[in-house]
Amino acid sequence: MCGIVGAVALRNVTPILLEGLHRLEYRGYDSAGLALLNRQGGLQRVRAMGKVAELEKALATSPAKGHLGIAHTRWATHGKPAEHNAHPHLSERLAVVHNGIIENHASLRRKLTELGYSFNSDTDTEVIAHLLAHHYQHKQDLLSAFRATLNELHGAYALGVIHQDEPDNLYCARMGSPLVIGVGSEEQFIASDPLALLQVTDQFIYLEEGDHARLTLAGHEVWSSNNQVLSYPVKRYEHAAHSLDKGEYRHFMLKEIFEQPKAIADTLEGKLADNQVLTAILGPEAENRLADIQNIHIVACGTSYHAGLVARYWIEEQAGIACQVEVASEYRYRTVSVPANTLLVTISQSGETADTLAALRYAKKQNYLGTLAICNVAGSSLVREAGWRLLTQAGPEIGVASTKAFTTQLVALLWLTTALAQAKQRAPEIINANVRALRNLPGLVEQVLQLEPGIEQLAQSFAGKHHALFLGRGPHYPVAMEGALKLKEISYIHAEAYAAGELKHGPLALVDEDMPVVSVAPSDSLLEKLKSNLEEVRARGGQLINFACERAGLETSEGVTHIELPWVYDSVSPIVYTLPLQLLSYHVALVKGTDVDKPRNLAKSVTVE
Ligand code: AGP
Repeated sequence: MCGIVGAVALRNVTPILLEGLHRLEYRGYDSAGLALLNRQGGLQRVRAMGKVAELEKALATSPAKGHLGIAHTRWATHGKPAEHNAHPHLSERLAVVHNGIIENHASLRRKLTELGYSFNSDTDTEVIAHLLAHHYQHKQDLLSAFRATLNELHGAYALGVIHQDEPDNLYCARMGSPLVIGVGSEEQFIASDPLALLQVTDQFIYLEEGDHARLTLAGHEVWSSNNQVLSYPVKRYEHAAHSLDKGEYRHFMLKEIFEQPKAIADTLEGKLADNQVLTAILGPEAENRLADIQNIHIVACGTSYHAGLVARYWIEEQAGIACQVEVASEYRYRTVSVPANTLLVTISQSGETADTLAALRYAKKQNYLGTLAICNVAGSSLVREAGWRLLTQAGPEIGVASTKAFTTQLVALLWLTTALAQAKQRAPEIINANVRALRNLPGLVEQVLQLEPGIEQLAQSFAGKHHALFLGRGPHYPVAMEGALKLKEISYIHAEAYAAGELKHGPLALVDEDMPVVSVAPSDSLLEKLKSNLEEVRARGGQLINFACERAGLETSEGVTHIELPWVYDSVSPIVYTLPLQLLSYHVALVKGTDVDKPRNLAKSVTVE
C-alpha cells in the first residue's frame, strides 16, 4: 500500500525519488518523506504530512541533495497519519523505509527499549531501524547486521536501507510486499512498483519472497533468505509504452474509463479466431487440462471479486461447470473442501493484493487441478506464483477506483468461459455468439461512453443524498454491487446493492424520496421480474434511475429517470452496463467535490492484510 523508491547514482537522486513518489502516490498518500546521503557524508531527512506536493514544498525550504537515497509515501497502518510517523525512520546513522506490517513489532519494541533505544514514532517500522542499528553495533558489518535483522522480523515487508558508513550501498529486502530492482547504466534503483521508475529505466529484476540485495553504481548482488547468491534475469517492463499522465482528462479515473475500448481490444488480441477462441495463450499444460475441469473456485477481493461473481453465471450456464466465488480474506482462513478436478482462479488487477496472494499460496497446498491467475501486471507476484496465467491488457491503472481493470477482467473471464465451453464441446452456437460479441465489444463500449453528458446531468440529483440503493438480477446483480462500490468509494455516499428480488425481504423499508434507487435493466429473461421490483420501489415514493435497454419498454413517470443503452447480446451485457455506473460515480464525485483519483483512507494496491 505504501510506496517505496530508492536510488544510487552519480547524479543527485532527489528528482528521481520525487518523480517516483508522484508515480506511487496512488498507493498511499497520508504522508511522504525521503532520506539522502551525499558525498560529504551527511544524512538528510525531509518529511511532510499529506501528499508528495507537500514534501516538495518542504524541500523548497530545506533543500536536500544526494547520490544515494530512499523515499516513501505512506498509507497508515500503525500510528496515525502524522509527520513523526512518516518514513524514513532513523536510528543512529541509518535510515529505513518500509512497506508492510511487522507483526512482532510490540515485542521487538519492548526489547529495544530495554536496550536503551528511544522511539520517536508510533510505527512498527521504527523497530526495524533500531534493530538494525543494534545488530550493526555488534557485528560492525552492515550486510550481516541486515541479515540478522531480517531473521527477527515476522510479518510482511519491503525494505530500503541506507547507512552513512556505506555511502555507496543501497540495501533492500522483500517478504510479503512487492519490491523490484531497476537496472540503469551506472545507476541502480528500487521501487515497490516498476511504474515508479519508468522515467529512468524499463529494465527490472523481480525479487522473490525472502530475497535481500545490495545495490551499488556498478550493479547488484541478490541473495535468498538462506544467503545463497541468486542470479535473476533482467526483464523489460511490458507496459512501458503506456502513457502515465492524465493527458487531456481531468482525472485518471475518467481517462481510464475512456481507455476501455482499447483496453478490451488489447486484452482480446490474439485470442479470437473466426468461430472459436484460441487457447494456446494459456500454455500447453493448461490447454490440455481444460476439458478435465469439473469445478471452479474463484478467489479475489473488491472489484476483482465482483468480476468473479459475474463469471459464475457465465461458467455455470455456458460451460456447465460448477463454480463458487469467495473473497480472499475469508477463503484463506477456512478449511476448503476441494472436489476432484477443481481449478482455482485468482483475479487481481495488481497481482500484489496480500489476501489474494495468500489465498493462492494456501490453494497451492490443496488438491487443485491447477491454479490460474487473471491479472493485469505481468511481473506481479500473483502471476509469477500461479501455475497458469491469463493476462489482461488494461495498461497501468492509476485511479484508486478500478474501472478498465474490471471490464478487462470480465472480458478475460468471458473468454475463459468460452474456452471451457469449447473444450467441453458445448453447443457451438454459444461459442460463435460469444466470439462475435467479444469482437464487437470495443465498438459497443465506445458507443455507450457517448452517454456521458446525460449521466453528468443526472449526477446532480445526488447532490444532497447520503444513501443509494443499486438493484440488478442475474449477472447484473454483481454489476449493481460494483456500481455501489464505485459510488461509495469515490463520492463517500453510502451505497448498497441488492438482488432486486431481495428488496421486499428488508431493504424496501429504507426506500423513500431521499433514497435514489439505481437499477440495471437490460432486456434479458429476468426483465419482467425486475420491472415488478421497480414498481415496488415506485409505490413507496423511491426515486428511480434506470440504466435500461432501449427495448426494455420501461414506462416514464414522475420520479423515474431512464438512461437508455443499445440492445446487446446477453453475455457481454454485464460488461456494457458497468460503463454508465462508472460514469455515474465519477460525476457524482465531481458534484460532491471529493478527491476522485485518491479517495480518502484508500490505497490502490492493498499489500497488507
Ligand atoms: C476497486 O475500485 C478497489 N479499489 C478495490 O476493491 C480493488 O479492486 C481490490 O483492492 C482488489 O485489488 P486487486 O484487483 O489489485 O487485487
